[in-house]
Amino acid sequence: MNQTKKSGKMRIYIIGFMGAGKSRFAKNLASSLSYDFLDLDLEIERSEHKWISEIFATKGEDYFRKAEQNALKNTLEKSDVVIACGGGTPVFFDNMEFMNKNGKTIYLKPDNQIIIDRLNINSRKRPLLKQIRPEEMADYVNKLLKERNLFYRKAHFVIDPQRTQLEQVSKMLIQTS
Ligand code: S3P
Repeated sequence: MNQTKKSGKMRIYIIGFMGAGKSRFAKNLASSLSYDFLDLDLEIERSEHKWISEIFATKGEDYFRKAEQNALKNTLEKSDVVIACGGGTPVFFDNMEFMNKNGKTIYLKPDNQIIIDRLNINSRKRPLLKQIRPEEMADYVNKLLKERNLFYRKAHFVIDPQRTQLEQVSKMLIQTS
Protein backbone atom coordinates (compact mmCIF):
# COMPACT_ATOMS: atom_id res chain seq x y z
CA MET A 1 0.00 0.00 0.00
CA ASN A 2 1.23 3.45 -0.82
CA GLN A 3 1.43 5.71 2.20
CA THR A 4 4.22 7.89 1.04
CA LYS A 5 2.86 9.66 -2.02
CA LYS A 6 2.78 13.42 -1.80
CA SER A 7 1.41 15.62 -4.49
CA GLY A 8 3.90 18.03 -5.94
CA LYS A 9 6.54 18.19 -8.58
CA MET A 10 8.89 15.50 -7.51
CA ARG A 11 11.47 14.22 -9.98
CA ILE A 12 13.89 11.58 -8.82
CA TYR A 13 16.95 10.92 -10.96
CA ILE A 14 18.73 7.59 -10.49
CA ILE A 15 22.36 7.80 -11.56
CA GLY A 16 25.32 5.45 -11.43
CA PHE A 17 27.64 3.30 -13.52
CA MET A 18 26.53 0.84 -16.19
CA GLY A 19 25.40 -2.35 -14.51
CA ALA A 20 24.58 -0.66 -11.18
CA GLY A 21 20.95 -1.73 -11.58
CA LYS A 22 19.51 1.75 -12.16
CA SER A 23 16.52 0.74 -14.27
CA ARG A 24 15.34 -2.01 -11.98
CA PHE A 25 15.84 0.13 -8.87
CA ALA A 26 14.04 3.10 -10.48
CA LYS A 27 11.12 0.89 -11.51
CA ASN A 28 10.76 -0.50 -8.01
CA LEU A 29 11.04 2.91 -6.39
CA ALA A 30 8.47 4.36 -8.80
CA SER A 31 6.06 1.60 -7.98
CA SER A 32 6.56 1.97 -4.22
CA LEU A 33 5.90 5.73 -4.46
CA SER A 34 3.15 5.37 -7.08
CA TYR A 35 5.19 7.57 -9.38
CA ASP A 36 5.75 7.13 -13.10
CA PHE A 37 8.90 5.46 -14.35
CA LEU A 38 11.01 6.78 -17.19
CA ASP A 39 14.16 5.35 -18.72
CA LEU A 40 16.32 7.98 -20.43
CA ASP A 41 17.95 5.48 -22.82
CA LEU A 42 14.51 4.25 -23.93
CA GLU A 43 13.37 7.83 -24.49
CA ILE A 44 16.39 8.42 -26.73
CA GLU A 45 15.77 5.20 -28.65
CA ARG A 46 12.15 6.21 -29.15
CA SER A 47 12.92 9.69 -30.39
CA GLU A 48 15.80 8.56 -32.62
CA HIS A 49 14.07 5.37 -33.82
CA LYS A 50 17.35 3.52 -33.25
CA TRP A 51 18.97 1.33 -30.60
CA ILE A 52 21.61 3.10 -28.51
CA SER A 53 24.30 0.92 -30.09
CA GLU A 54 23.14 1.99 -33.58
CA ILE A 55 23.23 5.67 -32.61
CA PHE A 56 26.82 5.28 -31.38
CA ALA A 57 27.81 3.35 -34.50
CA THR A 58 26.15 5.55 -37.12
CA LYS A 59 26.17 9.04 -35.57
CA GLY A 60 28.88 8.87 -32.94
CA GLU A 61 29.06 9.53 -29.21
CA ASP A 62 28.86 13.34 -29.44
CA TYR A 63 25.52 13.07 -31.20
CA PHE A 64 24.31 10.59 -28.60
CA ARG A 65 25.33 12.91 -25.73
CA LYS A 66 23.34 15.79 -27.26
CA ALA A 67 20.30 13.54 -27.67
CA GLU A 68 20.78 12.44 -24.07
CA GLN A 69 20.90 16.04 -22.86
CA ASN A 70 17.78 16.78 -24.85
CA ALA A 71 15.95 13.80 -23.33
CA LEU A 72 17.05 14.99 -19.89
CA LYS A 73 15.69 18.48 -20.52
CA ASN A 74 12.37 16.94 -21.57
CA THR A 75 12.00 15.42 -18.11
CA LEU A 76 10.99 18.90 -16.93
CA GLU A 77 7.62 18.20 -18.52
CA LYS A 78 7.10 15.36 -16.03
CA SER A 79 6.51 15.30 -12.33
CA ASP A 80 6.11 12.57 -9.74
CA VAL A 81 8.43 10.46 -11.79
CA VAL A 82 11.50 8.31 -11.19
CA ILE A 83 14.00 8.57 -14.03
CA ALA A 84 16.69 5.97 -14.72
CA CYS A 85 19.61 7.79 -16.36
CA GLY A 86 22.38 6.37 -18.50
CA GLY A 87 25.74 5.78 -16.86
CA GLY A 88 27.26 8.77 -18.63
CA THR A 89 24.38 11.22 -18.18
CA PRO A 90 25.83 13.07 -15.14
CA VAL A 91 29.24 13.41 -16.78
CA PHE A 92 28.37 15.56 -19.79
CA PHE A 93 27.44 19.24 -20.14
CA ASP A 94 25.84 20.63 -16.99
CA ASN A 95 23.59 17.58 -16.67
CA MET A 96 24.48 16.88 -13.04
CA GLU A 97 23.71 20.44 -11.96
CA PHE A 98 20.51 20.33 -14.00
CA MET A 99 19.31 17.20 -12.19
CA ASN A 100 20.27 18.52 -8.76
CA LYS A 101 18.40 21.72 -9.45
CA ASN A 102 15.27 20.15 -10.86
CA GLY A 103 14.87 17.08 -8.71
CA LYS A 104 16.41 14.73 -6.19
CA THR A 105 19.39 12.70 -7.31
CA ILE A 106 20.27 9.25 -6.04
CA TYR A 107 23.64 7.70 -6.83
CA LEU A 108 23.24 3.93 -6.91
CA LYS A 109 26.58 2.57 -5.85
CA PRO A 110 27.00 -1.19 -5.48
CA ASP A 111 30.48 -2.65 -4.91
CA ASN A 112 32.71 -2.31 -7.98
CA GLN A 113 33.02 -6.11 -8.18
CA ILE A 114 29.25 -6.50 -8.60
CA ILE A 115 29.36 -4.08 -11.52
CA ILE A 116 32.34 -5.86 -13.07
CA ASP A 117 30.67 -9.27 -12.81
CA ARG A 118 27.41 -8.01 -14.29
CA LEU A 119 29.11 -6.24 -17.18
CA ASN A 120 31.15 -9.30 -17.99
CA ILE A 121 27.94 -11.25 -18.38
CA ASN A 122 26.04 -8.52 -20.15
CA SER A 123 28.20 -6.20 -22.25
CA ARG A 124 26.69 -6.97 -25.64
CA LYS A 125 24.30 -4.04 -25.92
CA ARG A 126 26.66 -1.46 -24.47
CA PRO A 127 28.69 0.39 -27.08
CA LEU A 128 31.34 1.57 -24.62
CA LEU A 129 32.15 -2.04 -23.74
CA LYS A 130 32.39 -3.33 -27.30
CA GLN A 131 36.18 -3.43 -27.33
CA ILE A 132 36.66 -4.52 -23.70
CA ARG A 133 37.72 -8.12 -23.18
CA PRO A 134 36.59 -9.90 -19.99
CA GLU A 135 40.11 -9.85 -18.56
CA GLU A 136 40.25 -6.07 -19.08
CA MET A 137 36.87 -5.33 -17.53
CA ALA A 138 38.01 -4.80 -13.92
CA ASP A 139 40.66 -2.24 -14.91
CA TYR A 140 38.28 -0.49 -17.27
CA VAL A 141 35.48 -0.21 -14.70
CA ASN A 142 37.75 0.83 -11.82
CA LYS A 143 39.40 3.55 -13.91
CA LEU A 144 36.24 5.00 -15.45
CA LEU A 145 34.37 4.80 -12.15
CA LYS A 146 37.08 6.83 -10.49
CA GLU A 147 36.70 9.55 -13.12
CA ARG A 148 32.93 9.47 -13.06
CA ASN A 149 32.74 9.50 -9.28
CA LEU A 150 33.70 13.17 -9.43
CA PHE A 151 30.26 13.75 -10.94
CA TYR A 152 28.26 10.96 -9.31
CA ARG A 153 29.24 12.00 -5.82
CA LYS A 154 27.47 15.35 -6.27
CA ALA A 155 24.17 13.48 -5.91
CA HIS A 156 21.87 14.33 -3.02
CA PHE A 157 21.93 10.72 -1.82
CA VAL A 158 24.31 7.79 -2.24
CA ILE A 159 22.83 4.34 -1.86
CA ASP A 160 24.31 0.88 -1.86
CA PRO A 161 21.42 -1.21 -3.22
CA GLN A 162 22.76 -4.36 -1.53
CA ARG A 163 22.56 -2.74 1.88
CA THR A 164 19.50 -0.51 1.63
CA GLN A 165 15.82 -1.37 1.72
CA LEU A 166 13.51 0.34 -0.72
CA GLU A 167 11.30 1.45 2.15
CA GLN A 168 14.20 3.36 3.70
CA VAL A 169 14.75 5.17 0.43
CA SER A 170 11.08 6.14 0.06
CA LYS A 171 11.01 7.45 3.63
CA MET A 172 14.22 9.39 3.19
CA LEU A 173 12.87 11.05 0.05
CA ILE A 174 9.58 11.99 1.61
CA GLN A 175 11.25 13.38 4.72
CA THR A 176 13.49 15.64 2.68
CA SER A 177 10.88 16.82 0.16
C1 S3P B 1 26.47 4.75 -21.12
C2 S3P B 1 25.60 3.97 -20.44
C3 S3P B 1 24.41 3.35 -21.07
C4 S3P B 1 23.96 4.16 -22.29
C5 S3P B 1 25.11 4.38 -23.21
C6 S3P B 1 26.29 5.12 -22.55
C7 S3P B 1 27.64 5.31 -20.40
O1 S3P B 1 23.34 3.25 -20.14
O2 S3P B 1 23.42 5.40 -21.90
O3 S3P B 1 25.52 3.13 -23.69
O4 S3P B 1 28.27 6.27 -20.89
O5 S3P B 1 27.95 4.82 -19.28
P1 S3P B 1 23.35 2.19 -18.88
O6 S3P B 1 24.08 2.85 -17.77
O7 S3P B 1 21.90 2.02 -18.60
O8 S3P B 1 24.00 0.95 -19.38
